[in-house]
Amino acid sequence: MKKNPSRNIHLKKNPSKLLEKINNSIDTDHRLYKEDIEGSIAHAKMLGKQKIIFKKEELKIVNGLKSILKSITSGKITFKKELEDIHMNVESLLFKKIGKTAGKLHTARSRNDQVVTDFKLWIRNNSVSLDKQLQILQKNLIKVANKNTNTIMPGYTHLQVAQPISLAHHCLAYVEMLGRDRSRLLDCMKRLNENPLGSGALAGTSFPIDRNFTTKLLNFSRPTANALDSVSDRDFAVEFLFVLSLISTHLSRMAEEIILWSNQQFNFIILPDELATGSSIMPQKKNPDGAELVRGKASSVISNLNALLIILKGLPLAYSKDLQDDKKIVFSTFDDVYLTLGVMSEMWSKISFNNNIMAEAVNNSNATATDFANWLVQNLQLSFREAYHLTGKIVAYADENNKKLHQLKLTELQKFNKKINKEAKKTFSIEESIKNKKSFGGTSPQSVKQTIKNAIKKYL
Ligand code: ARG
Repeated sequence: MKKNPSRNIHLKKNPSKLLEKINNSIDTDHRLYKEDIEGSIAHAKMLGKQKIIFKKEELKIVNGLKSILKSITSGKITFKKELEDIHMNVESLLFKKIGKTAGKLHTARSRNDQVVTDFKLWIRNNSVSLDKQLQILQKNLIKVANKNTNTIMPGYTHLQVAQPISLAHHCLAYVEMLGRDRSRLLDCMKRLNENPLGSGALAGTSFPIDRNFTTKLLNFSRPTANALDSVSDRDFAVEFLFVLSLISTHLSRMAEEIILWSNQQFNFIILPDELATGSSIMPQKKNPDGAELVRGKASSVISNLNALLIILKGLPLAYSKDLQDDKKIVFSTFDDVYLTLGVMSEMWSKISFNNNIMAEAVNNSNATATDFANWLVQNLQLSFREAYHLTGKIVAYADENNKKLHQLKLTELQKFNKKINKEAKKTFSIEESIKNKKSFGGTSPQSVKQTIKNAIKKYL
């Protein structure tokens, strides 16, 4: 007795235990149940409208599927491994519910167009919650930015103090990154949004189906143009994984900064207790595990993009069973990215900053040397390169005398150029330095407030 309806009579023996084990995908693709039923309902309605099945049969199938959806959602169903995947499980539930009319549902359809339709619908649905998560993180960053337009911190290049910036300016850099992630996601959804249902196994079908009708019911923008391509295409999943990889890369960079800032030598932040752990041996430790795990997860996320590309690169057209692994890859990547976005949102809503220490780090580092050089250009008619070299000499002099630039006396500065005056000394002020960066996108409180305004309008 063969239990799996997709196992045809010409196969005289049951599948071996090992084939069953390697072939079953229900442990993973049960997550497609909603989309599978939604796709099947659209297909049944189309079959009815086109008179491929009787209206009575259409209604019976649609109602049966709806009540199966309810039973699954309320946890009343245990899926059967021997039925291989979600598609065969739903079909078998339908047989149990409405009898042999269930056998008409698979008319003019193959599991190949069915699964790719389900998968596209799943990614599309879940991209909405992913976008929400990205937006929440942006919102939390903007909140911190709003409170810190005047909070000074070092801006780095090469992880060496470069120029003073505000904490708000730093937060807004991440808001932009995440904004690009969101637009990339949207863009990927536009290309994904073609309906593969009705492609059959690979060749299309001889039944008089209406693909525009299912396209409308399933909210796709148009039917896919080539049946052979439709059933073997997983480009949309690759693109989705790339979007996830880049989000994860951004989160990892953010996590890295949080780890650095919480280090005793930086001491810029106090990690929220809820997102830190202790050590089993060193009683004083407060470890940034939350951030470290976010950084670590980027590894499997990026690898999963590679994994799907490697599956695809050797596949002849059209469907091959290798493609079954696409869902495991996408689901686990999605879960990791969704979770890490949540962790980072919580981090930004609870983190606190040691403002004095951050300002002190700027104070100790000649971070306004460029501002001084700019003054020389604007007031002594030096070319920027001349001003740059002159300032370099002054920095070397300060280093030799164990002083910071702002500690040099005017007379000392005038040894390098007589025309340097009191006004020039003002450029060593950190507040002045930040205040003057008024260019669009710069770090001055004025520019940053404008960036916040624009970001709220654009993203929230
Ligand atoms: N479980 C399968 C998958 O995820 C469904 C498609 C099966 N198609 C087939 N020709 N055997 O890919």
